[in-house]
Amino acid sequence: MKRILITLAVAALFASACGSLRSPQDRLTLNDKKIDAIIAQMTLEEKVNMLHSKTNMSSAGVERLGIADIHYADGPFGIREEGQPNGFMSAGWTLDSATFFPTGSALAATWSEELAYKYGTGMGKEARLRGKDVILGPAVNIQRLPVGGRTYEYLSEDPLLSAAIALEYTKGCQDQGTAVCIKHFAVNNQETNRGSVDAQLDERTLREIYLKPFERAVVEGGAMSVMPAYNKVNGDYCSENEHLLNEILRGEWGFKGFTVSDWGGTHSTMGAMLHGLNVQMTGSNYLGQPVIDSISTGALTEDLVNEKVRQILRVRYAVEAIPDDVANTVMTSQPECQEIALEVARKSIVLLKNCGTLPIAPEVRKIAVIGQNAVLKTQSGGMGAGVKALYEVTPLDGIRAKADEKGIEVSYAPGYKNFPGRRWGPAPAEPDPLEAAAIDEPADPVLLAEAVALAKDADLVIFFGGTNKYIETEGSDRKTIDLPCGQETLVQALYVANPNLVTVLISGGPTDLRVLDSICPAIVQGWWNGTEGGTALAEVLFGEIAPSGKLPFTFPARLEDSPAYAMGNFPDPNVGGDLFSLMFRPDVLKMSPEERQKFIDSLPKPVSKYTERFYVGYRWFDTKEIKPMYAFGHGLSYVDFAYEGIKAKAGKDAVKVSFTLRNEGSMPADEVVQLYVARVDSAVEWPAKELKAFKRVSLKAGESRKISLDIPLKDLRYWDEAAAAWALEHGKLQLLVGSASDDIRLSADVEI
Ligand code: BGC
Repeated sequence: MKRILITLAVAALFASACGSLRSPQDRLTLNDKKIDAIIAQMTLEEKVNMLHSKTNMSSAGVERLGIADIHYADGPFGIREEGQPNGFMSAGWTLDSATFFPTGSALAATWSEELAYKYGTGMGKEARLRGKDVILGPAVNIQRLPVGGRTYEYLSEDPLLSAAIALEYTKGCQDQGTAVCIKHFAVNNQETNRGSVDAQLDERTLREIYLKPFERAVVEGGAMSVMPAYNKVNGDYCSENEHLLNEILRGEWGFKGFTVSDWGGTHSTMGAMLHGLNVQMTGSNYLGQPVIDSISTGALTEDLVNEKVRQILRVRYAVEAIPDDVANTVMTSQPECQEIALEVARKSIVLLKNCGTLPIAPEVRKIAVIGQNAVLKTQSGGMGAGVKALYEVTPLDGIRAKADEKGIEVSYAPGYKNFPGRRWGPAPAEPDPLEAAAIDEPADPVLLAEAVALAKDADLVIFFGGTNKYIETEGSDRKTIDLPCGQETLVQALYVANPNLVTVLISGGPTDLRVLDSICPAIVQGWWNGTEGGTALAEVLFGEIAPSGKLPFTFPARLEDSPAYAMGNFPDPNVGGDLFSLMFRPDVLKMSPEERQKFIDSLPKPVSKYTERFYVGYRWFDTKEIKPMYAFGHGLSYVDFAYEGIKAKAGKDAVKVSFTLRNEGSMPADEVVQLYVARVDSAVEWPAKELKAFKRVSLKAGESRKISLDIPLKDLRYWDEAAAAWALEHGKLQLLVGSASDDIRLSADVEI
């Protein structure tokens, strides 16, 4: 019979393990006395003025009292170009070119807490140079759908990996004196109807999967601000969700900072005021004059306003304001940050498949680079997460530079048309011959013939496929994960012309590789890898460094295999008009508040049911025994690693596992060791296995090292719905150590 101990005892244990240390959130309260004295001097108007936007990227301070405005910047992969005060149009500055860091899924593919910290420091530093107080990032939602428009912004399908990266990014950034605004809280997993969709899920799934990255960033990282998402969760908008904002974020996690609605994501005065929002972004129609009016009628109290202002001022005093004449005096992008971007890119590249074509052999004298993604810059596009980069080394630039050093000839052909997505503004007078009108436009015969001719004449062909930031973008989800614009036909023709073929995928999320995988001897996931992406890629292709990235999400073989699709939860057959886009229609903007409310009430109310529950990503594929194309955690190297001699024991606070890892190759290489837990004879429902610890390890050629991994007992708890609390199930655990979720090398059992 299993013993299931409900939280209290466990909670007490962890509380005492933490001793009397102040929590990182408590640091925000150090100035509370001073802040209360300042609030006492403020007029109601001055206070309410802090509860909404001042410009598109700032909220007001109080000049009379020396309180500086708060300046925000997107986030999360580079400090966004300076916009006009009233919108996102460029301000036309010259010193605002930033470092473009690898995008979210690439950062997570490093599985490196150390690099996530450095990445955060890079963002934090450049934010300070631009006078920014708060970075709108990191973006840490779980990658639930392979088609998700923001998969590339988000980190992983796994909560432990997402949480570890989110935590270190947060610490790195805030250690530089810039606050993070961790987003989008919470369950923001689709762009389809993102402004109105109601994500409906059970509490266990919410707690164990979707909230984890936020929880660690807030509780352990001391994240100073949080951005409620556009969507609803279980019936209420995130910007006025009592359960998320007041009960969990402030109540349970002890959050002391302030919340900022996503841009256009505030929905009412009373809801937002009573249920946890501090700042309306953007506009003041809810948290401006209506707040003053509600106080005069007695519907709201000034005390509530004081509390919200106190929470904002805590962050204002924790982050030093940069005077206008000090900010923006040097170029935003700094060499030390470009170096961080390079380090991350190097360790993010995932070798999916290799039948010996990589690294590029010394005999190769002529390389044909095929595919527009080899020359495409990936810094801009994708809406909020675009960066005006100081420079960007494309894959072709990187390959050319390295080939020049070695006297190798490189030729290039575009191979396929690029799909530019939805066009804003007038259509060009002449259509661009390299642009497709539709994502599924078949291969272009002229471009294909040109590419095949180059391939025939080369020793090696490197094909660059994948998507772009118009196909994977904020604001919409992909319809499929198919490779666009006839890329599969092209690869087939290239292989016939020259089987010495490598494919590099330049994309942020998974793509359907069934055709490609059956043809291509080597496949690399190259991501949108930042300012130095091409440099890092060339180092890997030419074998100067061994690839060491691991997939942060599953590549399903077929989209229909993935959980939300298989359960019929996505796409929603009853897709309605998206409230978010409708609200900004000119006729709607002209409506009176009453008319607008009537209009909103008349709209369809889209729902997204999460009946797949916690079976997200590999949790689903493993449990249902569905073979994916490439599994979570997968990534090859140019060396082999041997795993030997596992030892495991369960202690009072943690399960401890150790083993020896040996690099059996002839070059230095990194391995990411992964520890999964499977439950044996459990009375509770669990996925087949779950990631519970990991570590990136660098080993010289032939080197062995003892590796230790700990799983704190608290990380083995589950959310007990009946008790509404975390619970630890005692019993037998199977510990599975491996190089990927489908490549387990060692196992041991322990009893907890
Ligand atoms: C996005 C946020 C972003 C904000 C400001 C919104 O559309 O969802 O992630 O920070 O715009 O650009």
